[in-house]
Amino acid sequence: MSHDVPSAAPAPITLAWQALVAHFDTIATVHLRDLFAADPDRGQRFAFEGAGLLLDYAKNRITAETLRLLQALAAERQVSRQRDAMFAGAVINTTEHRAVLHVALRAPRGATVMLDGVYVVLQVHAVLDAMGRFATGLRTGTANGHTGRRLCNVVNIGIGGSYLGPEMATMALRPLTDPAMRFRFVSNVDGADFVTATQDLDPAETLFIVASKTFTTLETMTNAAAARDWLVAGLGEAAVGRHFAAVSANVPAATAFGIDPARVFGLWDWVGGRYSMDSAIGLATMIAIGPAHFQAMLAGFHAMDTHFRTAPPQANLPMLLGLLSVWYTNFFGAETIGIMPYAARLAGFPAYLQQLQMESSGKHVDRAGQPLHCQTGPIVWGEPGTDSQHSFFQLLHQGTRLVPCDLIGFCEAMSPLAGQHDLLMANLFAQAEALAFGRSQAEVIAGGVPAAQAAWRATAGNRPTNVILADRLDPFTLGSLVALYEHSVFTQGAIWGIDSFDQWGVELGKDLAGRIVGELGHGKAPVLRHDSSTNALIARYRSRRA
Ligand code: F6P
Repeated sequence: MSHDVPSAAPAPITLAWQALVAHFDTIATVHLRDLFAADPDRGQRFAFEGAGLLLDYAKNRITAETLRLLQALAAERQVSRQRDAMFAGAVINTTEHRAVLHVALRAPRGATVMLDGVYVVLQVHAVLDAMGRFATGLRTGTANGHTGRRLCNVVNIGIGGSYLGPEMATMALRPLTDPAMRFRFVSNVDGADFVTATQDLDPAETLFIVASKTFTTLETMTNAAAARDWLVAGLGEAAVGRHFAAVSANVPAATAFGIDPARVFGLWDWVGGRYSMDSAIGLATMIAIGPAHFQAMLAGFHAMDTHFRTAPPQANLPMLLGLLSVWYTNFFGAETIGIMPYAARLAGFPAYLQQLQMESSGKHVDRAGQPLHCQTGPIVWGEPGTDSQHSFFQLLHQGTRLVPCDLIGFCEAMSPLAGQHDLLMANLFAQAEALAFGRSQAEVIAGGVPAAQAAWRATAGNRPTNVILADRLDPFTLGSLVALYEHSVFTQGAIWGIDSFDQWGVELGKDLAGRIVGELGHGKAPVLRHDSSTNALIARYRSRRA
C-alpha cells in the first residue's frame, strides 16, 4: 500500500464510517475557540477518570456528535466483543495462531484464566514468585557472585520488547531503586553499546540478564556472547553460573548457552514482546524496585485492564484514546501523534510507545489478508516537556501540519526540588492551552506588536491535545498508563481489522542482513548478487573499513 491511500476510506466500508466522513465535513474548519465558547462545561464534560488516570480530551476537534459517531463505529466493528475475546484467551493473533493474554500477566493470584486446559495465572504467579526470590537475594546480598562479592551491577541484554519496557520502567521508578545498585541496558549490536555499558564495571560485581523471548535474536545473542567472554576473561569459566540469568520462552536454548536452569525465568508464546514488560522480561525492573513495588505496578496494569473491560464505551479511557487516534488518522489525515511526558524520568516512554504502537498497528492487510483501503498506525514520536518546547514545539504551534499530541503530567513533585514542579506543570497546561486557542493577529497587535509583524507572531491554535493527568509517578500509575496505551492500540486495531500482535514486516531485513554479513567477511571478495546500489555499498565498505 502506498502512502497516498485516501485517508478517509473505510476498511471495510461501513455505515458508521460513512457517517463520520460526512460529519468530518461539518467540523473540519470549526475552531476549538468556538467549541469552547458554545459549551462552557466542555472542560468538565470531556474528561473521564479510570484506574488512577484523568483523561482530559476536551481540547480535541470533536463534538458530542463526533463522539457518538465514533462510538457507533466501535459498535459496528464490535470492539467490545473483540476485547472480550482477547480476555477469554481466544486465538486473536491469527497469523501466528496464538492467544493474546498479556492481561493474565497482571491478574491477581487466584484469578482464573484457562488456556488449553492450563491455569495460566497459576503459571504466571509461579514465575513471579521465583523472580521475587531471585530479586530479593540480589537486593539483600545473599545471592552473591563467584568471588562472594555483592552483585550490585545488573546489565540487561535484550532488544525491542526485551529492552524498551524494562529500561523505561527502571528509569521512571528510579527513586525506588537501591542506590547501591547500578542498572545498565545493552541492546544495540554496535559493540560500542556493550563496551560503554560495561567499561566501568567490575566483573566480580556484575550480573547479566539475557532477556529474549525467542533466545535467537541476533543482537541479543551477539551481546550475550560478548558478555560471556568479558566475564570469563575477568573471572574464569567457573563464574558463568553465578553471573548470568535469562528470561525466555526458549528454555532449552538458554540452558544450552550455559545458564543455570534455576535462573531461567519463563514466559509464554501468548505474551508478545512489546506487551512483556510486566512478565519475567521485567526482571531487571523488579530487581531495581523490589518485588512489592513490581506487584504494585502489576496492580496498576490490572486496574486499567478492569476499567477497559467494564467501563461503558463513552467513559472508557483506552477506547476514547484509540477512537481519537482513528479520528485524526483516518478523517483529518494526520500522519503522526506526539507523546510528551512532562517528567524527565519518563524520557523512555515515547520510544516504548513507538514499538508498542508502530509494531502493532503498522499493517497493510487485514486479518483476512486483504489490502486495507485506509491508513493504519500513525507515526508515534515524542520527547519530554519542557525540553521539547525548545526544540520542535515551534512546528506544533506554527507549522502547516496537524499533529495531535498527548501531554502527560503528575500532580505531585517528582524530586526534592518540589518548587520546580509548579513550573513544569504550568508549562504543560500552557502548551495545551496555547495549542488549542492560539493568539490571533488582532490579539498580537493589541499586545503592542506592530501590525507589520503580526503575521509572524500570531499562532492559529486549533491544534488538538489530550492531557493525561495522574497524582504521582509511582509503580501503580506507570502500570495503568502503559495498559491505557496497550488497550488504545487494541481499540485501533479492532477498528481497522488488523492483527495487532504479529510483526512479519521486520523479517525481510533480518534475512537480508544474515546473508550480507557473510559477504562482509575478510578474505576473497564474494560475487555479489544484490541490486547495483547494494553491491556498490558492500564493495566500498569492504575496501574502506579499517
Ligand atoms: O524484531 C522484532 C522483535 O521480534 C520484537 O517484536 C521483539 O520485542 C524483539 O524483536 C526482541 O525479540 P526477543 O525477545 O525474542 O529477543
